[in-house]
Amino acid sequence: MEIAYLNGDWLAPDAAKISIFDRGFMFGDAVYEVLPVYQGRIFTEVPHLERLARSLAEVRIAPPLTMAEWSALLGEAVDRSQEADALIYIQVSRGVSMPRSHVYGDGAPTVLVTVTPFQGPTIETAPQLRVKTAEDFRWLRADIKVTSLIANGMIKNQAIAEGYDDAIMIRDGKVTEGTSSNVFIVKDEVIKTPPKSERLLHGITRDEMIETARELGYSVTESAFGLEEMLAADEVWLSATGLELAPVVGINGEPIGRGEQGPVWREVFEAYQTRKRVIE
Ligand code: PDD
Repeated sequence: MEIAYLNGDWLAPDAAKISIFDRGFMFGDAVYEVLPVYQGRIFTEVPHLERLARSLAEVRIAPPLTMAEWSALLGEAVDRSQEADALIYIQVSRGVSMPRSHVYGDGAPTVLVTVTPFQGPTIETAPQLRVKTAEDFRWLRADIKVTSLIANGMIKNQAIAEGYDDAIMIRDGKVTEGTSSNVFIVKDEVIKTPPKSERLLHGITRDEMIETARELGYSVTESAFGLEEMLAADEVWLSATGLELAPVVGINGEPIGRGEQGPVWREVFEAYQTRKRVIE
């Protein structure tokens, strides 16, 4: 059952209401997190909560809860939802400023947690993505998980309007990330992903996939690459919490490798299926 927690109250999601003066609405002045739940257990809770704490600190929103309180709240949310497989969204805005002002007020942050039923992909249902490349015109702090996703939405929806599934963004000749995912390429069984910087989100799934691939014996490097190197790759993947790891089979109308799911993707994807059900 879908469920929402808003500032202390448990509600049906469509019954939860916030002020029109909430800075999340007025200014996009908010951060968020998305956590996966498998078999009633939150996977990678600690890194997600650490990233939330970092996002809040970077934008100077006072942390509304301690790590232990977040953990207890999320546990209660999952219990109340009675869902085994779900996505938890946490949204924290700077709260209400009235009258509207760019200057921060001293109101308490708005805290929203939702639990939504969600089934992760399988080898059979994993999407085979055809994407385009696009100029990354977002702000220069893409490492902070802010709810202001207008640029990501513009770039993704332009790609969809042109008949693609999504876009991979490029800034200054270097691949940054997908519109809501991180990017991996594979060449001669060596896996590469752009290094962490302020230009891309430090994806939790990205870290998990790096570890999973290394445990399988693959060499994984975190180094920059451009369009040419990506087009010449044997495999390209996108990683994100709900997506897990999805093969990109075409870019800008050109096939990647043989234009189908690759063997390295299959191996890492399958190992991750075990990992997500075993590791705390
Ligand atoms: N998006 N890059 C961007 C821009 C993202 O929005 C996301 C996740 C990622 C992958 O991060 P992670 O592996 O921690 O999920 C990378 C989430 C899922 C969303 O917006 O719903």
